[in-house]
This record gives sequence, structure tokens and C-alpha cells, in this order.
Amino acid sequence: MLQYPNKHSLAQLGPLSARSYRILKYAVLAVGLMTMTAMTVPNFHARSWTLLDIILWCCLGFFFCELAVKFWVGAESGRGPRYLVSVDGLIDILAVLPIPIALLAGVHPETAWLLASLWLLKPTAAIPGLALLGRVISIEARALTSVLAIFLIILLLAAVALHVVEGAAQPKQFGTLPRSLWWAVTTLTTTGYGDAVPETLLGRTIAGLVMICGLGVFGLLTGILATGFAAEQRRRDFIRNWDLVTEVPFLRDLDAPAVIELTRMLRRIDLPERSVVVRRGRPGDCMYFIASGEVEVKLEPRPIRLGSGAFFGEMALLDNSPRTATVTTTAPTTLLALEVADFRTFTAQHPTLAQAFEQEAARRKTAIKGDVPGGKTVG
Ligand code: CMP
Repeated sequence: MLQYPNKHSLAQLGPLSARSYRILKYAVLAVGLMTMTAMTVPNFHARSWTLLDIILWCCLGFFFCELAVKFWVGAESGRGPRYLVSVDGLIDILAVLPIPIALLAGVHPETAWLLASLWLLKPTAAIPGLALLGRVISIEARALTSVLAIFLIILLLAAVALHVVEGAAQPKQFGTLPRSLWWAVTTLTTTGYGDAVPETLLGRTIAGLVMICGLGVFGLLTGILATGFAAEQRRRDFIRNWDLVTEVPFLRDLDAPAVIELTRMLRRIDLPERSVVVRRGRPGDCMYFIASGEVEVKLEPRPIRLGSGAFFGEMALLDNSPRTATVTTTAPTTLLALEVADFRTFTAQHPTLAQAFEQEAARRKTAIKGDVPGGKTVG
């Protein structure tokens, strides 16, 4: 999919940077939508129709230029038609074509310009959570379809039941199945507008059951989506952590199953410069591997720097003692944290690794006591 921004994009062709272009685009979008809204207010509409019209045409012109340039750039690399059928391309087309088509078809301008609301689709491609949501929905499609089927079954059964039970007493609300269906939708979704209320005891009993079913169905939906999100996030973290774990020299000798196990246990932490990771005297709850960046261990008389591939925070876990030093990042740093419970489980299963941690901790202790330079990067 040809996506903005990319190296061939509009922003790189002109003097604007990709970021300024994006800001300009969102500003045009905001102005366009506000103008569209103002157009529906009779006061504004009557006084400044021409101005509002000009602003909207300018916004439309901007989006048309964007579409044309993207197509032209795509065509140069032989991907023009592909861009037009990509999600990005279709959204760009939807932003520019419907309004002139509606105007040409004789739709009243005030109504035609309401199609400017389609411009709102433009930022959707940039919302990172949407791709994640799409993936979760596609993975959980079977479970979600089952819940949807349950929802529809309960909906229809409830509508039929209320039509039979209440239809004669309240023909306006329950006299036909579509009317009963409206009641079933508002009740099952627990919205309950109160415009249709069963009067008989049986009707009310059914209504109560439908409300309870509604809560159950939405609970199920929420549960499926929440666990889907968590599982997908874990999968993504696993892939990201795997690459980082293989970069740590200390862990290179581990066999594949052990790396998989450890990767599942590690939590990635991205820190800016000058962040305190552990403080001297505090209890230890984690040890850390440095995936990239650098930290400084504040030791007297000389602090020690540990770089990419090193680890720290193991001493407090091994001895069940407070932290021996404060450790701070000296550059933007990515750490992989191993919680104490996982540390104990993993070292119990891999005694050679436990031994290596102990040897390094012992060497570090000697370095602290004897003021022997201990600042080599462990790896
Ligand atoms: P911990 O005591 O849990 O927290 C502070 C960490 O600093 C400590 O574990 C070690 O990982 C690290 N550290 C302490 N002394 C040294 C040293 N001499 N060389 C390198 N790292 C050290």
C-alpha cells in the first residue's frame, strides 16, 4: 500500500517537512469540518455563505492536489493504479469525488457539503490502534461471530415473545414484529428508552430475562476483545523482545527453548536519558539487560558505565538484599526487565546461567570493596 509519508511523498517534493505537512493537512481538515458545521447554522449560513463556500472549495482543492500528487508519484514508480485501489487511495478518492458528484447531480449545496464529513476518514490510517483492533477482530472472528449469533437469536426470540404476549394489549408498541424488534434492541443493549414497556407480568418477566442476557452478551464481547488485545500485545512484545534478547551476548549460549521462555518473561522498557532505574538501598524486584543505550552505576569513588549487552540489578535478587548502587541512564536506553519471580524460576531451571550471574556478582562485589575497576561491559 502506498502510504503517506514515504520517501516519495508530497512533503519531500516541496519545501515542507513531513511533519509540517501533516500539521497543515490536519489544520485544513479541522477548518473544513468547522466550516461544514457552520454552514448548517442558519445565522452563519445567511451572513457568510460565500466565504464558507470559498473555504470549503479551498479545502477540497487541497485534498484534490494531495490525491493528484500521490497518484503522480505512484505512477512514476509504476504503482499509480495500485495506490488508487489501496485503502489510503480509496480514502483519498472518497474525500474528493462525492461532493462534486453530488453538486453536479443537483443536490442542494448545503446537503452536498455535508459529504465533507468523509474527510474524517483521512486521519484513520494514522491511528495505530486501529490496525491492532483490525487484527484482534480478524483473529477473534469466530468467537465474535458466535456472540453475535447469540445476540441475534435472543433478539428475535424476545421480539416474538413480546409480540405474542403484549401485542393485543399494546398494539402501538408490540403490534407488529418490527415494533417489537425495536423494543428488543433497546432492551437487549440495556439502553431502555422507556418508549415501549411491557405491562403484563409475563411480559415484564421476559423483559427482565432479556436485560440479564444483554449484560451477559456485552460482558462476553468485552471479554473476548480484551483477551484478544492482551494476546496480540503479548505476541508483538514477544517478537520485539526476541530480537533484543538475541543481541545480549550473555544470553547467546542459551538454547532456543530457553530463549523463548526468557523472551516471554522479559518486559521491554524504553527510557530517556538521566532516568533513575534502581536506587541504592531500595529492595530489588527486577534485574535488567541493556538492549541498547548506556547506564551509569553510581559507585564511589568512580562511577561505572555499562553499555549495550550488559546486565545489572542481579545482586539484590541473588542476595535478597537492598540495591548496592543507584543506576541511571546516560542516553536513551532500552532495557529488558526480568521480574524477581521469573528470575528465580529461570535460574532454577538453568543452573549454568545462575552460576554465571553469581560469578559476575561476586566479581562486582570485589570491585566495590577493593576499588578494583569493575566497569567493563559484561557480555
Ligand atoms: P543491585 O545491587 O541489585 O543494584 C545495583 C546494581 O549495580 C547491582 O545490582 C549491580 O548489577 C550493579 N553493580 C554494582 N556494582 C557494580 C560493579 N562494580 N560493576 C558493575 N556493576 C555493578
